[in-house]
Amino acid sequence: MREMTDPGTVGTQYASVERLQTRRSVWGPGPEGVSPVDVLRTLVVASGARRVLEVGCGTGQFARSVLDEAPSTDYLATDLSPAMVEATRALGVPAEVAPADELPFSDGWFDGAVAAWMLYHVPDLDGTLAELRRVLRDGGTLHVATNGREHLGGLLRDAGGEALVTQFTSENAAGLLGRHFEHVVQRDVETRATFPDHAAACAYLATFAPDLAQALPPFDGPRAYAGHTAVLTAH
Ligand SMILES: C[S@@+](CC[C@H](N)C(=O)[O-])C[C@H]1O[C@@H](n2cnc3c(N)ncnc32)[C@H](O)[C@@H]1O
Repeated sequence: MREMTDPGTVGTQYASVERLQTRRSVWGPGPEGVSPVDVLRTLVVASGARRVLEVGCGTGQFARSVLDEAPSTDYLATDLSPAMVEATRALGVPAEVAPADELPFSDGWFDGAVAAWMLYHVPDLDGTLAELRRVLRDGGTLHVATNGREHLGGLLRDAGGEALVTQFTSENAAGLLGRHFEHVVQRDVETRATFPDHAAACAYLATFAPDLAQALPPFDGPRAYAGHTAVLTAH
């Protein structure tokens, strides 16, 4: 889907924090009882990396949660959107505006890097992965999270749309990472979006597909939909 990587569309989508906050708020653990964000945080903290770069940090909650668990980490969060950087700084996390495909850091500067639910947006995916590899020291670890092809497909189809297939999915992520990193390990995590009512489901859809929000047939009470994600580490 071309709009997912179009700089103008992506810039508008993340020009302020509200749309991302609306989307984040509905997600919780799936049948395994864990959320992918918890899996990702556990891996980042367990890696013991001292100097960590996050790209596409969004509103900064993930960065904050890592620092809460591992306060001595030298963590730098970055994002293309000044509004996201400002929200992240407001949580007390060091943050800078930087494009993920042109990182203003020296080779090998970081022990760890995080790219959570953002590699499906970058216009030059291979260039971005090469850039992440460049700023990691030899033996450093990249932690990644993304969605599968069927992520939230039930809701999108109920609204008359179709599943959102991006350039970087659970199905192709390991192969794409493998072009730049030697060892890649993947864990698939099923998650769940719970909407208290029809209006909440419409509000979610309206953040990225207003036509689908209009088309979602009414329903009574709460409704939950499955989401499919993957968390990967690459060395
Ligand atoms: C779906 S949000 C994910 C935010 C956060 N990682 C999370 O999991 O909540 C994608 C984020 O990537 C940022 N982004 C998109 N393209 C980018 C790029 N080329 N370089 C850096 N950040 C980018 C957006 O501004 C947005 O904050």
